[in-house]
Amino acid sequence: MSEFGHDTTADEVLEGKDLSGKTVFITGGNSGLGQETGRAMAAKGAHVILAGRDQGKLDEAVSAIRSEVPDANLETITCDLASLDSVHAAGAEANERFDKIDLLINNAGVMACPKMHTDDGFEMQLGTNHLGHFALTKHLMPLVEAGTDKRIVNLSSRGHHIAPVDFDDPNFESTDYVPFLSYGRSKTANVLFTVGLEKRFGDKGIHSYAVHPGGIQTNLGRHMSEEESAALVERVTENDPGFSWKTIPQGAATQTWAATADELEGKGGLYCEDCNVAEVDDASPNSGVRTYALDPVAADKLWAMSEEMTGVTFA
Ligand SMILES: NC(=O)c1ccc[n+]([C@@H]2O[C@H](COP(=O)([O-])OP(=O)(O)OC[C@H]3O[C@@H](n4cnc5c(N)ncnc54)[C@H](OP(=O)(O)O)[C@@H]3O)[C@@H](O)[C@H]2O)c1
Repeated sequence: MSEFGHDTTADEVLEGKDLSGKTVFITGGNSGLGQETGRAMAAKGAHVILAGRDQGKLDEAVSAIRSEVPDANLETITCDLASLDSVHAAGAEANERFDKIDLLINNAGVMACPKMHTDDGFEMQLGTNHLGHFALTKHLMPLVEAGTDKRIVNLSSRGHHIAPVDFDDPNFESTDYVPFLSYGRSKTANVLFTVGLEKRFGDKGIHSYAVHPGGIQTNLGRHMSEEESAALVERVTENDPGFSWKTIPQGAATQTWAATADELEGKGGLYCEDCNVAEVDDASPNSGVRTYALDPVAADKLWAMSEEMTGVTFA
């Protein structure tokens, strides 16, 4: 067990650490957990690249971070994960502008939106949360290989308990679309992608981690009505009577821990929550990682399906 837990903040995780000289690339860096992770890491001297789909929002995030960390070493890059053209362009731009990435934090996400599609026709949650990050990670891999720390953190969620990936109908063409079912599948895909990355790149010293950050009130709930939010909180507290929200600094702690913890050195393919590696658990509604999310056969199947859907293959 690490010394940290549910209430730890990103700043507490980084206490005593010096991140100067390290380059961190964070998707969804203009909001919520991504922005806070960027702020905390910049405060420790890291060169932080905030990726987002809207330059105006990125500029606001830079101002907000600089109001707390005036000398923050920040850059921004636009990337819409719901468009492969945008992902390819951002990947090419990143390779031109940056020499390396030490820590890649695939943090962006969309939750429980109405049935929508990406520019390439993928169902929006799988398309943004997994397929966009799959393609982006391929483009950024040479930069990660050039880095020293070589860690990739993929934001998953306890929502992965909802369902495994449906390989027969990833875009909900024949299945009735249920917003949280789609979210759950996409968040399982984030864990399986972590397992797939570890299998392919672990022996090159590139280690990958999936993270459940906790329950945090951010912009993620934007697609839910007040009634739907209340119903979600009721479901969560029924399953977990001890549930409490995390603050955004607490919510950013586990991804910060996965990216920097000394005790994870040389290990990967792991799912973390509350600043610890989670137990494999197929029953608990309020903790742990499901076996199906760590299944190496499903991870290979997802890898092949993702390559086929995106047309992107890792060298
Ligand atoms: N908050 C929680 O309780 C919770 C729980 C479990 C897991 N998570 C995971 O934590 C991660 C961060 O979420 P958050 O709570 O910080 O939510 P948030 O404040 O809504 O941040 C999500 C970020 O993802 C970006 N994004 C969405 N669609 C995008 C796209 N097509 N292209 C590029 N960027 C896109 C958003 O950009 P815009 O601002 O432009 O929309 C925003 O920057 C997500 O992966 C989420 O699934 C959160």
